[in-house]
Amino acid sequence: MLSKKLEKELNNQMNNEFFAEYEYLSMAAYFHSINLDGIANYFHVQAQEEHFHAMKIFHFILDKGGKVQLQQIAQPDIDFKSPLDVFEKALEHEKKVTKSINKLMDEAIKENDHAVNSFLRWYVDEQVEEEALAGKSLGKMKLINGQGEGLLILDQEFSQRTFTVPKEN
Ligand SMILES: [Fe+2]
Ligand SMILES: [Fe+2]
Repeated sequence: MLSKKLEKELNNQMNNEFFAEYEYLSMAAYFHSINLDGIANYFHVQAQEEHFHAMKIFHFILDKGGKVQLQQIAQPDIDFKSPLDVFEKALEHEKKVTKSINKLMDEAIKENDHAVNSFLRWYVDEQVEEEALAGKSLGKMKLINGQGEGLLILDQEFSQRTFTVPKEN
């Protein structure tokens, strides 16, 4: 059984992941609106990944006999100043998520809950990749100063990103 505290925090993390899906969808919409559909694709894939992160927690809570409590999803950022601004926000966002995963892991360790600990390890590793990718993409955006023909090249590159639906559980 999950402790009440871990059950609550896992539900909160599930909500964070759904919120992340919203944030990335909002970023995708921004890029579509400025005709960079390839970069929009990059954020659609990111949004799908976040949906998967949320659903993995959804099934885990149920498997542990806990209660899935869906909460209201906050409104994401809808005003972006520039392509560079979006990538800066995306990296900041991933850093915040890493912090919340770490906090959750601290609690699992404190409670000696080995199942939650083992489950969360996947997220700890995933966040290393998420931050690395967000950092690299921001770095590329900075190289081209977030404008000009370089944007079209990145648009091409990011149009290639794909998502294959993994099994949720
Ligand atoms: Fe995530
Ligand atoms: Fe993420």
